[in-house]
Amino acid sequence: MGERQRDVFIRVNGEEVRERIEARQTLVDFLRDHLGLTGTHIGCEQGVCGACTVLVDGEVVRGCLVLAVQCDGAAVQTIEGISDSGLITDLQEAFHKRNALQCGFCTPGMLIGAQDLLSRGSVPSREAIR
Ligand code: FES
Repeated sequence: MGERQRDVFIRVNGEEVRERIEARQTLVDFLRDHLGLTGTHIGCEQGVCGACTVLVDGEVVRGCLVLAVQCDGAAVQTIEGISDSGLITDLQEAFHKRNALQCGFCTPGMLIGAQDLLSRGSVPSREAIR
């Protein structure tokens, strides 16, 4: 194995993933290109827009600023996993009801961010976001 490639073991949305990847590959590219999880979007690639937001070991991260190899041994949750869990169904409905989507490109990241705020008690209650 060359210096440019690394073996990683990452739990993605509860499923174990073992892959040999380019050491310089970003997490968002890994999720999209290797795993086909295209709900995580790529926008600015500078950590500003939030379209690439995912959870790594429960912490919000910008997938464009993190290398996939940095997530070796970690648990990653994408919008697909969070949505399938039903955890944010009420937020998705609220976004839809309030037409909070605009073009929708960054919506997955906004939903993950909103869920994170709620889980941390950073807003008064779940009803405050509805
Ligand atoms: Fe914009 Fe990552 S693509 S923050």
